[in-house]
Amino acid sequence: MQTQTPTDILSENYRFLQEHVHSQVGIVIEGDKHYLFESRLSPIASQLGLSSVNDLCALLRATRETTLSRRIVEAMTTNETYFFRDPGHYEAIRNDLLPRLKQERADTRKMRFWSAASSTGQEAYSLAMMLLDQGLASWNLNILGTDFSSRMVERASAGTYQQIEVNRGLSAPLLIKHFRRAGVNWQLSDQVRNMAHFETIDLRKSLRALGPFDLVFCRNVLIYFDATTKLQILEQIHGTLFRGGWLLLGGAETAFGYEKWFEKRLTGNAVVYVAR
Ligand SMILES: C[S@@+](CC[C@H](N)C(=O)[O-])C[C@H]1O[C@@H](n2cnc3c(N)ncnc32)[C@H](O)[C@@H]1O
Repeated sequence: MQTQTPTDILSENYRFLQEHVHSQVGIVIEGDKHYLFESRLSPIASQLGLSSVNDLCALLRATRETTLSRRIVEAMTTNETYFFRDPGHYEAIRNDLLPRLKQERADTRKMRFWSAASSTGQEAYSLAMMLLDQGLASWNLNILGTDFSSRMVERASAGTYQQIEVNRGLSAPLLIKHFRRAGVNWQLSDQVRNMAHFETIDLRKSLRALGPFDLVFCRNVLIYFDATTKLQILEQIHGTLFRGGWLLLGGAETAFGYEKWFEKRLTGNAVVYVAR
């Protein structure tokens, strides 16, 4: 007899989903997270006219259909983000990285940045607004945003945000300066939007060709991976950075084994990883 949990996902389906998500996106879902699968996948089951997540698993097993697989996997990613998250990082960029880059790049007037795991784009656009604020509008600035989820990449590219999203981390002067009302939403100006472009990229793939960058944000994503995957990604990111370029990790993240590639440094209140 199959055991059933209170949320009704059969244990064999629970294991199937854990393995599927791990193999497709690298995310480790450990312990009893039935509620997580249930809450994220029930809406997909309903939209497909299925009565449960178990039926959704049966459909995926039977068809192995790529679109369905991606939809399920993307639903299991956590996309939480907001403008100017970890303000200490932005202060460190303004007070330490940018003054140095302005000097070093005085001839080419070029800087390149990467928001790896960019979700809905707030990280990339916060940086873009800050660069404009620092008088760099005439420079050749390029910000790449990437995410596994094509849904997130579409949203980031559109630069359209709900009221609740602009309420998080964005000051009133920046809202007025860079956004205009679009019905109930807010639309980012073309000037800021054109500074960034977004692509669908899995961080577990080869990343070197994306560089070279002066700064890589890789925040609040490594926490979802196992130790081996984390190290592989750190090595790849190191390969995309100029020597002396910065890697920024999320507040709760540490990078065990990073020493080969990065020197950990405190600047202001921020921890930065400087590429060796
Ligand atoms: C919590 S958000 C982080 C957003 C932003 N970096 C921040 O700190 O505010 C994590 C993002 O990582 C993305 N992600 C998860 N696994 C990924 C992978 N293997 N490759 C690329 N992106 C991934 C998710 O789709 C999600 O949008």
